[in-house]
Amino acid sequence: MSLINCILLFAAAVQAKRVVHNWDITYLNTSRGLDQAPKRGITVNGKFPLPIVEAEVGDLLVLNVHNSLDVPTSLHAHGIYQHGTNYYDGVGMFTECSIAPGSNFTYEIPLKQSGTHWIHGHTAEQNFDGLRTPLIIRDPRERWDYDDEYLFVLEDWSPWTMQQSMDFLLKPNLAGLPLNPPPHGLINGVNGTLTKPIKFEPGKTYRIRLLPMTSFPNLEFVIDDHDLILYEIDGVRTKPKTLKTIRVTPGQRASVLVKAKRSRSNNYSYHVTMNSPGTPVLAGALPFTFNGTVEYDPKAPLAPTTVIPSEEFDELTAESLDYLPALQTDRSLFMNATWGFTPDVVLYDTFDYVEFRAPKVPTLFSALTMGDKAKNPLVYGPQTNARVLKYNEVIEIVLFTMASRLFAADTVFLGPFQYVVIRFRADNPGVWLFHCHMDWHSPNLRSVFVSAPDVMQRTLRVPQSGIPTSGNVVGRNDYNIDGAPILPALLASPPH
Ligand SMILES: *[C@@H]1O[C@H](CO)[C@@H](O)[C@H](O)[C@H]1NC(C)=O
Ligand SMILES: *[C@@H]1O[C@H](CO)[C@@H](O)[C@H](O)[C@H]1NC(C)=O
Ligand SMILES: *[C@@H]1O[C@H](CO)[C@@H](O)[C@H](O)[C@H]1NC(C)=O
Ligand SMILES: *[C@@H]1O[C@H](CO)[C@@H](O)[C@H](O)[C@H]1NC(C)=O
Ligand SMILES: *[C@@H]1O[C@H](CO)[C@@H](O)[C@H](O)[C@H]1NC(C)=O
Ligand SMILES: *[C@@H]1O[C@H](CO)[C@@H](O)[C@H](O)[C@H]1NC(C)=O
Repeated sequence: MSLINCILLFAAAVQAKRVVHNWDITYLNTSRGLDQAPKRGITVNGKFPLPIVEAEVGDLLVLNVHNSLDVPTSLHAHGIYQHGTNYYDGVGMFTECSIAPGSNFTYEIPLKQSGTHWIHGHTAEQNFDGLRTPLIIRDPRERWDYDDEYLFVLEDWSPWTMQQSMDFLLKPNLAGLPLNPPPHGLINGVNGTLTKPIKFEPGKTYRIRLLPMTSFPNLEFVIDDHDLILYEIDGVRTKPKTLKTIRVTPGQRASVLVKAKRSRSNNYSYHVTMNSPGTPVLAGALPFTFNGTVEYDPKAPLAPTTVIPSEEFDELTAESLDYLPALQTDRSLFMNATWGFTPDVVLYDTFDYVEFRAPKVPTLFSALTMGDKAKNPLVYGPQTNARVLKYNEVIEIVLFTMASRLFAADTVFLGPFQYVVIRFRADNPGVWLFHCHMDWHSPNLRSVFVSAPDVMQRTLRVPQSGIPTSGNVVGRNDYNIDGAPILPALLASPPH
């Protein structure tokens, strides 16, 4: 055996480092230190903020979860490719059954990417009620690029629960609109006005990670008289681009590098603005700017803020460090994100007027157990808006929207009457939810990509769970979908 072979065998035998967290998911009534009424939040181990998950590339993340709620729950590691581990993607009723009240479940997620990511509830939008925390994956090689780092996590916190908000939003005749009250902002888990100073040493370079774990508002970030050099978007390393301000939308993440000044003669202000342009429901409350200090010397004077730059940063102008030529499209899918109305004038945000409903059998289990029939979108039920993709085919999505929307693919922002074209190769067999990441849109503005069910059936394994995990949308082994949610398509405008 050659030396090379020996080394390879040895490398394979080395166990990935296990990063283990034991999480009891609980309710907690709290106002989170804000001047507002407490609400029933959802958190981990009985306190806010949740533990931050930190790991290195190559680690295995093990989340031992106990569900102490009286409803099902699940956890999604947002941004993680989950190649071969679709079952741990945490999308309740699509990739798993959700964790029943009183039950346990262990997620085992190989971390192959670096970057700024997050973990959030993915059953019934429980992230809105607080079930959300950063997932920071470091690549030791990146440490050559900067000396130290700071994390800015923005959360919005409303005294209403997700359920209360939806009860209002889905009132007949639009009687619950406009939705009040607006949310307040938390930075790194506390009232944003109480944010601590960050310290800069002359001549050093800092990585600033920006993570809006918000339901609606964007995070805009500025440091007076300092350039921001774009470094990462959604875990992807970018070519350097010099910015004065950066906007990061809910679900997205970004990092910038900041070179410290050479002298300690001044301190400077940083500004974290919570903003939601074009959302009338939040008018008056936003934008809201939190200010903190970049401290070079506790005794130095604070350089005055002249004007906070407000030029829009468009993430589509960013370039990945790993250049890929444009793929040739095999198949184009047009999707129109639009609202539709029921006959009693309930407004739903939808793709193509389809009112979304979860299946009775998680889509992953249907895909794994329906044999050749798994290639037919019919078996997943009409209200899941399923699209079946062939292995390795290049899909082009042309996505149009009438109002501000966000899409998780990983995440792209679309303003009113804009469209975006997304091309990807369907090389990750599994069931992937494509949805708006604004929590009030997310329950209905959804579609399910069933990628290569034939390859899934050969390669994916699902741990035994003791619950029915096979068949089509209703658990039968044929095209009979009697009993599946079947709703009429919504109307384009309210009936008169
Ligand atoms: C945040 O804290 C400050 C300082 O204690 C307080 O004045 C302010 O009212 C708080 N903001 C909210 C939204 O509760
Ligand atoms: C928590 O708040 C909910 C309303 O949001 C209320 O029904 C419940 O009684 C409260 N629980 C406790 C322990 O205060
Ligand atoms: C479930 O999780 C709880 C809390 O972590 C733990 O105490 C308990 O032993 C676990 N039960 C089983 C059956 O693993
Ligand atoms: C932060 O600074 C800006 C600009 O000086 C100011 O308009 C804003 O009111 C400040 N925010 C707070 C919460 O004091
Ligand atoms: C410089 O920053 C420190 C830390 O925030 C602050 O205590 C100090 O007041 C600042 N100096 C001035 C003159 O603002
Ligand atoms: C999407 O739907 C809206 C509402 O029906 C319609 O006005 C718009 O033209 C559609 N967009 C495209 C590109 O077909």
